[in-house]
Amino acid sequence: MINVAFVCLGNICRSPMAELVFANMIKERGLSSSFCVSSFGTSDEEEGNPIYPPVKRTLIMHGIAGNHTAKQLSLKDVINNDYILVMDGRNLLNVMHLTGGKYSEKVFKLCSFTDNPRDVADPWYTRDFEQAFADVEDGCKAFLEFILREKAELINYNNTH
Ligand code: 4NP
Repeated sequence: MINVAFVCLGNICRSPMAELVFANMIKERGLSSSFCVSSFGTSDEEEGNPIYPPVKRTLIMHGIAGNHTAKQLSLKDVINNDYILVMDGRNLLNVMHLTGGKYSEKVFKLCSFTDNPRDVADPWYTRDFEQAFADVEDGCKAFLEFILREKAELINYNNTH
């Protein structure tokens, strides 16, 4: 089992989007039983709130359904996950602040796995939800390829014949 936590600031836009996109991706490939996927915000500002409606609409336009309730990342969540995938440099600093610099070996920017390492720009400010979706999808695809290439021994292939 590979425990993956996607992390942004508020946990109402980018990280729940990434959680649902990645969950959909592994489901399509029959790999769901190998992963436990969740998402968190570094701030408590949006705690208890649902996915931001424009994000939900963007996901539905891409055929992805699902709900999420915002929650703040705790040190325990960092300890309990194998990969902490943050959306941008600010999230990375916030996670390092939470851990006091520990566990840095499992914290990555989501798009650092792509050929074009970059931040997932925050659509809360850019209002460009399609761009956020494209970045999240690219990052999730590249992360899954990394896992299949580097951590194949952790994958359950009991769905294959
Ligand atoms: P997220 O976006 O970090 O992608 O969930 C934001 C959501 C809310 C706020 C900022 C970013 N806010 O300032 O309330």
